[in-house]
Amino acid sequence: MTTPLRLGIAGLGTVGVGVVRIVRKHAKVLEARAGRPITISAVAARSRSKDRGVPITDYAWEDDPVALARRDDVDVFVELMGGSDGPAKAATEAAIAAGKDVVTANKAMLAIHGQALAEAAEAEGRVLRFEAAVAGGIPAVKALTESLAGNEITRVLGVMNGTCNYILTRMEKAHLGYNKVFAEASDLGYLEADPRLDVGGIDAGHKLALLAAIAFGTRVDFDAVALEGIERITIEDIERASDMGYRIKLLGVARMTGRGLEQRMQPCLVPKGSPLGRLEGATNMVVLEGDSVGQIVLRGAGAGEGPTASAVMSDVMDIARGTRVSTFGQPAGTLERPAAAASAGPAPH
Ligand SMILES: NC(=O)c1ccc[n+]([C@@H]2O[C@H](COP(=O)([O-])OP(=O)(O)OC[C@H]3O[C@@H](n4cnc5c(N)ncnc54)[C@H](OP(=O)(O)O)[C@@H]3O)[C@@H](O)[C@H]2O)c1
Repeated sequence: MTTPLRLGIAGLGTVGVGVVRIVRKHAKVLEARAGRPITISAVAARSRSKDRGVPITDYAWEDDPVALARRDDVDVFVELMGGSDGPAKAATEAAIAAGKDVVTANKAMLAIHGQALAEAAEAEGRVLRFEAAVAGGIPAVKALTESLAGNEITRVLGVMNGTCNYILTRMEKAHLGYNKVFAEASDLGYLEADPRLDVGGIDAGHKLALLAAIAFGTRVDFDAVALEGIERITIEDIERASDMGYRIKLLGVARMTGRGLEQRMQPCLVPKGSPLGRLEGATNMVVLEGDSVGQIVLRGAGAGEGPTASAVMSDVMDIARGTRVSTFGQPAGTLERPAAAASAGPAPH
């Protein structure tokens, strides 16, 4: 019997439950692919009594995610609580200090503390992975860190917040104003508890900053992202753009310029017939450009239980197979501090 890889999962919300479901449903195929069983030792959430739609009584329960992170029967701490600080950060730090590998979906935490956490993990000889934190089910992190590792990356761009794309495409299709569609999105549960994270471009800006760090070998610098949300986009803007053959998208663009690293997350005009212009509803798209490979377009679900849990499992499977890649694709200590280029004009597409 080969040694199982034992998970401790903190957070049993949308993503945590999705991960539990995959581990249970695909136990055999995961074991075949990893060469060892993937098991769950323990879980943590706020409410022990909440019905989560998956059986969790098979696993040990911890009220305190830090205690979960330190358990002897946990090899990989899976952080799925969210929040840039608080229990997510405390438990991630505790897990690394206790010699555990960490998988997280938490872009807010990594956009702010990613450098320090990556350095801490490397100092302990552990890995910290975050495929699910950027564009949900789309394997953008893996594509950049692994598949395109032989390229000089020239540009990273994309639509990375499904809620904003839903609002903009719904406004256009139904000829509705921003406030009406915002209210609809809220009723449908599409918005974060603090909606500015979505419509203010902050969530998408976190993701862009993480991808830029990998693409350009630089320290994550979320503060340098030129951010503008979609709150001021009117139906008239959308219809005028349409008349000229364009659609408005909340587009992130990162590229290294002669003046430094440019990172922008702003509403942009994109040609209707382009892959970005054809993107509907809550779908995400990440476009990666490298000197040898040319342009790669990745399109898929940027959120939701299945797609996000799928991305978490990609990191878990890497660890189970012994694939150990640095958090940002190279040792954290070698990441440069780039000059931030001032934002310059509308995004090229
Ligand atoms: N949802 C998505 O589609 C998606 C996509 C990409 C990335 N992510 C990221 O994935 C992470 C989780 O998102 P989610 O949508 O699954 O969140 P969620 O549904 O709100 O679930 C959060 C979970 O964390 C638990 N939790 C919160 N504070 C805790 C604490 N102090 N101690 C123990 N448990 C605590 C909650 O417990 P209770 O259930 O008991 O309240 C809940 O189970 C976030 O970082 C998010 O940004 C989510």
